[in-house]
Parts: sequence; C-alpha cells; structure tokens
Amino acid sequence: MLITDIKGLVGLHPKDKLVLRGNELNDLPVLENAWLLIEDGLIKDFGEMGNLPSPTAHLPYYSAQGRYVFPTWCDSHTHIVFAASREEEFAMKIQGKSYEEIAAAGGGILNSADKLQRASEDELFQFAALRLKQMILQGTGAVEIKSGYGLTTESEIKMLRVIRRLKDQFPIPIKATFLAAHAYPTAFKNNHQGYIDLIINEMLPQLAEEELADYIDVFCEKGFFSVSETDQILKAGAKYGLKPKIHANQLSVSGAIEVAVDNGAISVDHLEESNEESIETLKNADTIVTLLPSCSFYLGIPFADARGFIQADLPVALATDYNPGSTPSGNMNFVVSLACIKMKMFPEQAINAATLNGAAAMELSRDYGSIAVGKKANLLITKPMPSIAYLPYSFGESQVDEVILNGEFYNG
Ligand code: NIG
Ligand code: FE
Repeated sequence: MLITDIKGLVGLHPKDKLVLRGNELNDLPVLENAWLLIEDGLIKDFGEMGNLPSPTAHLPYYSAQGRYVFPTWCDSHTHIVFAASREEEFAMKIQGKSYEEIAAAGGGILNSADKLQRASEDELFQFAALRLKQMILQGTGAVEIKSGYGLTTESEIKMLRVIRRLKDQFPIPIKATFLAAHAYPTAFKNNHQGYIDLIINEMLPQLAEEELADYIDVFCEKGFFSVSETDQILKAGAKYGLKPKIHANQLSVSGAIEVAVDNGAISVDHLEESNEESIETLKNADTIVTLLPSCSFYLGIPFADARGFIQADLPVALATDYNPGSTPSGNMNFVVSLACIKMKMFPEQAINAATLNGAAAMELSRDYGSIAVGKKANLLITKPMPSIAYLPYSFGESQVDEVILNGEFYNG
C-alpha cells in the first residue's frame, strides 16, 4: 500500500535509535508533504511528494488528504484483564476518601480480586478483548498487560491465560507481566511470607512451565509490599528469566526505585512521589521512567515531575495504567494531553514518550514506536489538524481517524 498526500510523517527516528533520554525527547523528526510505502506489513520507504513513486506500480494506494501519520501509541502499563468496574468507589472518592482508605474499607485491589476469582476465563477474555479493541481504535498499537487481580495460583494463571489468548487473537504485540505481588490476600494479611512462598514455590514454576509471562511486577508501597519483600520476589522471578517492571513511588517514596534498579528493572512506573536520591539512582541505570498522568488525574494525587526527570537526562515514557480502580481509561490521546497540560511536557516530548519510549519499556522499540524503513507499519492517521501540537491541545477529543496495523486498516 502506498499512502500519499501526508501532511506530516511524524516520528522519523533512525531505526537504530531505541530509546530517547533527556533532551533527546525534544526532537520529534517530521517530514512534511510526504508519502509512505508499506510492503508485507513493514515500512518499505517514504519520501516527499515531489519524489512520489508511480502510484500504479504500488496499488492499492490511499490518499491521507492532508492528514498526519504517526506511529501508533505504545502503552507499556495496563491492567485490562478485570471482571468488573468499580464505580461504587467513585462516589467514595468524591466524598473525599483516599485510595488507601477505600482499599481499607474492602474496596480496591481485593475487591477486584474477589470478582475476578468468580469470573470464568471466557468471560474475562470477552471483557478484556472489548477494552483492547477500544484502545486500538483510539490509536494504541502495542500494549503490556498485567495479572494481579487473581491473587491465588489458579486465578493468577487464569489471568495470564487470558493475556495469552489476547496475544494469539489480536494483531498487535502484547507483553504479559506477572503481578501476583499486587496486594496481600485477606488470608495472608498476617502471614506475608506465606503469600510470598506461594508466589515463589507455586505460581512462578507453573507460569514458567506454560511460558505465560514476559515480566514480573511488584506493587512496592507502604501497606502493600516492602522493599525487602519486593527484592525477594524479584530475585525469584529472575530465576525464570522475568525482568522487573515495578510499581514504584505511587503514594510514597519507598526505596522501590533502588530495589528495582538493583534487580535490573526494564522500567519503574508511577513515580508521583520522588526525591533527589531516586533520580541519582536512575541516572546510572538504563531503567525507563514510565509516567501515568491519567492515574494522577483520576486519584487526585500529585503529577510526576516529568520535567525534572527529563532534565536529569532520564528516558521518560508515558502509559495509561488502565485499570478499574485508579485509572478507568485506556486512552493514550488523553495521556499525551495530560502530560502536556499537567506535567508541562512539550508536545514533542509527550509524543516521543508515548511512542518510541513506550515501545522501549516493552523491549519492542526495534520494531515499533517510530517510523523507519524496516519497522512494522503500525500507524495512526489523524483527522485533519492544523499542527502536531493540536493533538494534545484538543484534549478529550480524539484526533485519531484511522489505525493501520501490520500495514492493514483496523476496524475492530
Ligand atoms: O497502578 N497501584 C497499584 N495498582 C494499580 C491500581 C489497582 C487498583 O486500584 O485496582 C495502579 O494504580
Ligand atoms: Fe498500575
């Protein structure tokens, strides 16, 4: 397929550029008035309209009619396998209850786990597939999905099998993360080591046997998993080749970043709270800093210091955190808007963070996250827009017109 009359081809990073650190995020290369050639699902070539290859030689061709072409969003942090929404907590939140108070009152992760344990694998698959379809139609073309609402061996494996089915049935790359260390089940409230032993001795061997996970995650936070508990779980995961992606510093500075970096984490996610030491630790690592502004927006907690991280030369990525409790939305367009509006990222920085660096946070940036010859043709075509900045500027309104996956239009 040949796409012609593209107002701007966005995100033309060199193919070997796999991650953008610090000020590199400022540079979002764009070719104006362009064409793009796709062959066998890959980007074959592109250029200016002045040098258009003869269209008849490359049928079918499609005119973008003055619209922009972006790489699809790469959403590297989601929890989209869940049994039910939690809008009953929404009212509690409006009344002024905090995330921790709602969890203590029987809401939160344990509430979701209770519902998930009673749902069948088929039901969970249907629900998650609907969410994923919606996300793709909003421009997402690669995604990471976590377990963590099972909290028993049977239900954690059930969640991971749902993710496996999503991998098999959707035309986008999906990474699975094992997050049994999301909360202590009530039965282990006073026996943390008992639950950790269950994770290490029962869950990990079983999921490894079925090759169900790519990464391991821990919610390292006061009232959830301590730094030493996190360390124990990550070291056990490493024996099965699972690299960490960690929930760190969401509600407090906890030492999560240090333990994550020590264990070779691909990413540390959240960081609504941070201090100089966390930044120093990250400066000496390749770990990606994944920020989730729609979680801050929904919970009313501080927004992460994106500018500080960029100034410290760190690789910042953006993701949704789509889950029923803290972020009931999988809309990356909104995430990019919030990153600009509330974290004062520039549109170029936010778009790079939501594409190439998101791909890097899933170890997918060799094939996804930017437009380069030889990379996958996972692209979104915008509605007519006056400029690139218009996309985050027009918050709450989707500027995504068409989504192309592996060179083919996606219609859900
Ligand atoms: O990333 N913080 C931990 N996990 C999720 C929320 C889970 C929930 O409330 O169901 C998050 O915000
Ligand atoms: Fe999360």
